Amino acid sequence: MALERTLSIIKPDAVAKNVVGEIYTRFEKAGLKVVAAKMKHLSKQEAEGFYAVHRERPFFAALVEFMISGPVMIQALQGDNAVLKNRELMGATNPKDAAPGTIRADFADSIDANAVHGSDSLENAAIEIAYFFPATDVYAR
Ligand code: PPS
Repeated sequence: MALERTLSIIKPDAVAKNVVGEIYTRFEKAGLKVVAAKMKHLSKQEAEGFYAVHRERPFFAALVEFMISGPVMIQALQGDNAVLKNRELMGATNPKDAAPGTIRADFADSIDANAVHGSDSLENAAIEIAYFFPATDVYAR
């Protein structure tokens, strides 16, 4: 088992539904520890920068507008195989395809408003954590 860190974002739809605590409980029950966290209303510039890799995709503008539509909860999670474990907890990008019991199956309404983001690789996790948290705000636990 590899001890990893990954970046998770609870998106505006899930924050508005008041399920931040329920989602944190799923992280904790799966053995993922929150090692950094903050609530933030992203600026357009911050959201565009975060999703820059998707800039050419047809849904880019809609994704950015959605991500700045309300506050998000941003956290770094740490645990064995944290990147894959978090992706498994999240479920498929489109909630219609998400396995029962996953966060997106339970809390997401559509592919546009799909409740959570999670880093898709260890390399991107390091980039994404650094995008939102200075190293001094990530705690060894
Ligand atoms: S993933 O999860 O990165 O493998 O999925 P991908 O298909 O590459 O999607 C990248 C991010 O874009 C979001 N997405 C969309 N937003 C709005 N409309 C449509 N149609 C759409 N399709 C994909 C998807 O949720 C990913 O965002 P994050 O925040 O990484 O989950």
